[in-house]
Amino acid sequence: MRDILPPESALWNRIERASREIFAAYSYQEIRTPLVEVTELFARGVGQDTDIVTKEMYTFEDRDGQSLTLRPEATASVVRSYIEHRMWEQPGVKKFYYIGPMFRRERPQKGRYRQFYQIGAEAIGSESPTVDAELLEMLIELLGRLDLTGYSLFLNSVGCAHCRPKYLETLRSELSKVSGQLCADCQRRSETNPLRVLDCKVPQDQPIIDQLPTILDLLCPECREHFERLQGYLRERQIPFTVRPRLVRGLDYYTRTTFEIVHGALGAQDSLLGGGRYDGLSEMLGGPAAPGIGFSIGEDRFALALSQLAESETNAAGSPLFIIWLGDAAYRCAAELARELRARNVAVDLLADAVKLKKALELASRLGVRHALLIGDQELAEGKYPLRDMSQGTQKSVTKEELFEQFAGKGAQT
Ligand code: HAM
Repeated sequence: MRDILPPESALWNRIERASREIFAAYSYQEIRTPLVEVTELFARGVGQDTDIVTKEMYTFEDRDGQSLTLRPEATASVVRSYIEHRMWEQPGVKKFYYIGPMFRRERPQKGRYRQFYQIGAEAIGSESPTVDAELLEMLIELLGRLDLTGYSLFLNSVGCAHCRPKYLETLRSELSKVSGQLCADCQRRSETNPLRVLDCKVPQDQPIIDQLPTILDLLCPECREHFERLQGYLRERQIPFTVRPRLVRGLDYYTRTTFEIVHGALGAQDSLLGGGRYDGLSEMLGGPAAPGIGFSIGEDRFALALSQLAESETNAAGSPLFIIWLGDAAYRCAAELARELRARNVAVDLLADAVKLKKALELASRLGVRHALLIGDQELAEGKYPLRDMSQGTQKSVTKEELFEQFAGKGAQT
């Protein structure tokens, strides 16, 4: 777990602002679910045999003996909320987004934290591939709005309740022939959760895994048509993607569409986001049929990828204007002026301690501010103030009105 400090936090806020704008344009509305849920929700929703549930959850007993868990993800919570508030009775597809912390006790490394943040969206109430296509379009628009480049979209279908059991049977029987040659984890997974074998990263296992049948060979006609229609819609939208028949995700609720976006700048933890359909999740949680699809972007990784693309941006953190005052009377004037500017949404930083002009200017330059305004006794009397452009080293004299005009709309980006 870590602190997100300025100036990086400014980048996080920019990511969140852009996300909210895009989500609003696609009619997704914010949902805020609790950070803590009953453990059972994730055990049932995410899956009893997944790494998340078996190894990574922060689970504790409440004073009344109930088992609670810090949410490791939010899709199960959103569907729980959908059921609890009988949202299926409302018209149309329900579209939600969320931004917030998730908790998984993973081995920490660059891009992997125990408290990390996700920006996610979920559309519940339709199984049409038009919803899948629109969701992916929204995602690509969001990455584009933040000028993210250098990513790849991988797509797969993991079938449905009809075709997946047949695939699992075939996979199990093929695995039984080769599992002796696989790593210890895969030998165990071959029994408990054979799909996870496809996700193995051990290099020696790869040639064997490559020979295993893929789900795409065994999709039922409905799933095949769903997947083909989605691919057609993506091509029409000119969204590039690669079909990865072995893309399986670490959560058990997925059906049909699954996808992942990876980014080269992220290193070992290169998965920027993941998502997919979960048409049976509502029933698994005791609700009515409510097919859904969603994604979650790892915000920590998004910020990392963006900061590596535009190193300089996160360094420019200074306020546009720093006000320097010399003497008590000047302080009063400076404080009032700062308040008037701030009321006009101008980001202003005001000198805190009475220091000599030279020291104050040194401070302004170390703070990285673009302009410094100087107020002393003489300036007070004249009603005109020297405004220094810190990067050019030039100076001009301005009245209060001219100052308001020059800085109008220079809001803070924090
Ligand atoms: P997930 O693949 O488990 O899916 O996580 C989504 C993203 O969260 C990952 O691609 C990664 O960027 C980020 N992430 C996961 N674990 C960590 C970590 N320990 N540190 C930093 N970032 C991490 C889900 O959570 C699903 N709820 C996605 C979804 C939404 N499916 C349907 N709707």
